Amino acid sequence: MADLSGREPETVRRKIWDVPTRLFHWALVGTVLTGLYLGEFRSFSTIQLHFYFGYATGGLLVFRLLWGIFGPAHARLGKLFPSPRALISYLRNLFKRRPSGVAGHNPVGALSVLAMLAALSVQVVTGLCSEDDGLFSQGPLVDYLDPATVLKMTAIHHWSSRVVMGLIVLHLAAILFYRLWKREDLVTAMVTGWKTVRRDEDDRQA
Ligand code: HEM
Ligand code: HEM
Repeated sequence: MADLSGREPETVRRKIWDVPTRLFHWALVGTVLTGLYLGEFRSFSTIQLHFYFGYATGGLLVFRLLWGIFGPAHARLGKLFPSPRALISYLRNLFKRRPSGVAGHNPVGALSVLAMLAALSVQVVTGLCSEDDGLFSQGPLVDYLDPATVLKMTAIHHWSSRVVMGLIVLHLAAILFYRLWKREDLVTAMVTGWKTVRRDEDDRQA
């Protein structure tokens, strides 16, 4: 609606993140952080719990895949693959000191989400094929694999957990950068679903 000066406001409030996407996100935060902790400080009494949080993470990833196919527009998997043109044009303005106002993930954010989902998938799949000799514990697929493959999977499980940790740090740094440098609050949108978006973005989504 036009303001008193007769101009259309440049931004509008829109419901961007649906309830399942938000629940998925915060549940994922819980299972991943707990899974990382229980993996890092595993013991006889907690390794099984580590497995359960790993399965829960796997379940959430399967849900996100299905939601990416059948869910609403902003949750669609296609949104996680920005075109090179959109990416380059977004990168040109990345350090401008103003909110991006993108409805949904911005092109760089989309790529980082893709990296996070991929790294977590590797983490879950290799976990199923990993063993901890010291704790006499093994993932449910270990019996079907030869020892050399299990050794490799366990090593990848270790190193991909470092990649996951790195991506989480990057994720939080990016959110802080948006808050402090670009003066854009992304977190409230992931909590309430409502986001302030640029009007031209909003028109493009319509
Ligand atoms: C274990 C830690 C975390 C993981 C694995 C994680 C993972 C993800 C994933 C997969 C998405 C994409 C959501 C989707 O489209 O399905 C996302 C988005 C988002 N996350 Fe996280 N997250 C973590 C921690 C956090 C924390 C602690 C915060 C808040 C302080 C946060 C704030 C956000 C926000 C604001 C978005 C939306 C970004 C945008 O507007 O493009 N995340 N996160
Ligand atoms: C699918 C279920 C999962 C199973 C069955 C599983 C299994 C295992 C096993 C057997 C180990 C011990 C490996 C060794 O001795 O080095 C381990 C370690 C570990 N896991 Fe998992 N895992 C699963 C999912 C996950 C997930 C989702 C995460 C993180 C989000 C994770 C993070 C870790 C970490 C950080 C370690 C310690 C790595 C190290 O320092 O060597 N795991 N896991």
